[in-house]
Amino acid sequence: MLAAFVTQANPSDPLAALQVGDRPDPEVPEGWVRVRVRATSLNHHDLWSLRGVGLPAARMPMILGTDAAGTTDDGRDVIVHAVLASPGWTGDETLDPRRTLLSELHQGTIADYVVVPAGNVIDKPSALSFEDAACLPSAWLTAYRMLTRNELSGGDTILVQGSSGGVASAAIQLGKLLGLRVWATARTPAKQAFALELGADGAFASGDRLPDRVDAVVETVGEATWSHSLRALRPGGTLIISGATSGYSPPAELNRIFFLQLRVQGSTMGTREELVELVDLLVTSGVRPRIDRVLSLDAAADGLAALEAGDVLGKVVLTTRT
Ligand SMILES: NC(=O)c1ccc[n+]([C@@H]2O[C@H](COP(=O)([O-])OP(=O)(O)OC[C@H]3O[C@@H](n4cnc5c(N)ncnc54)[C@H](OP(=O)(O)O)[C@@H]3O)[C@@H](O)[C@H]2O)c1
Repeated sequence: MLAAFVTQANPSDPLAALQVGDRPDPEVPEGWVRVRVRATSLNHHDLWSLRGVGLPAARMPMILGTDAAGTTDDGRDVIVHAVLASPGWTGDETLDPRRTLLSELHQGTIADYVVVPAGNVIDKPSALSFEDAACLPSAWLTAYRMLTRNELSGGDTILVQGSSGGVASAAIQLGKLLGLRVWATARTPAKQAFALELGADGAFASGDRLPDRVDAVVETVGEATWSHSLRALRPGGTLIISGATSGYSPPAELNRIFFLQLRVQGSTMGTREELVELVDLLVTSGVRPRIDRVLSLDAAADGLAALEAGDVLGKVVLTTRT
């Protein structure tokens, strides 16, 4: 089958590590299902994998990808849940210390087929296209959990750091859908305009002084925006962080955290139940992910190059040969 995969990581030039070509068709273990991937979407996670972050050499070759929508061998249209709990784990799988994401221990989704435990698929409603559905399991689920598990209520103001990214664009759209006032930052005027187009109530250059303090910050950028995020919060506000694209070591500014009684809340992906909730929300609201472009799987390199260059507004989707 055709797949995008990595055999040897390249920490400084991730695209040089990308291979697109034939991989063996997967075996289907007992209790697992095979999904014919119809659409998959790219995430920054795929670039981390190509750099070897979270992916030791012993696990390669590894097919990239955490997101997929497709059809099982028995003809069921499904969305794949990317978080795999360890055998025997019960409860919130994101809290399982031995959980993995597809493409970390088990082969990923940027391929003609992916195999997952039977519990890791949910029904894809016909109202959602395969392309839209393929955007949900990582970026959208992450944004959904960040906004729904942190005591935010209608009328609260959030700041989304970055606008064009998968998680950031989802957080803007979902924030509005959940009744929040949404401000966003972006590095270019075009990306600020994109935030407004997605429904943001205000868009600012990265690091700009805001008109007021916010109740919570949705942080995925990390080092480059951390100080601004802390400065943006009202006393008692919450910094919700799920990523650190620009670096992991900002000055901690502990004094600001305790003096203003800020809460720093980590967040990772979401549960299967949260994915079901998210799908229902999209179906009932009519809101759909903003897709920048749809490419065929064999053009994965073009999509990943655009993602690395930051030349994407929303999500990049790849479709397979049907
Ligand atoms: N913990 C989890 O479960 C989880 C889940 C999903 C993602 N993540 C992490 O979250 C991060 C975002 O993922 P993604 O797939 O949404 O990435 P993406 O689509 O590539 O988006 C990158 C985002 O980062 C912003 N950005 C990058 N460098 C920046 C800088 N130097 N200054 C300001 N903004 C910068 C961009 O903002 P502009 O709009 O200004 O360009 C854009 O919004 C990644 O690090 C990823 O690994 C974690």
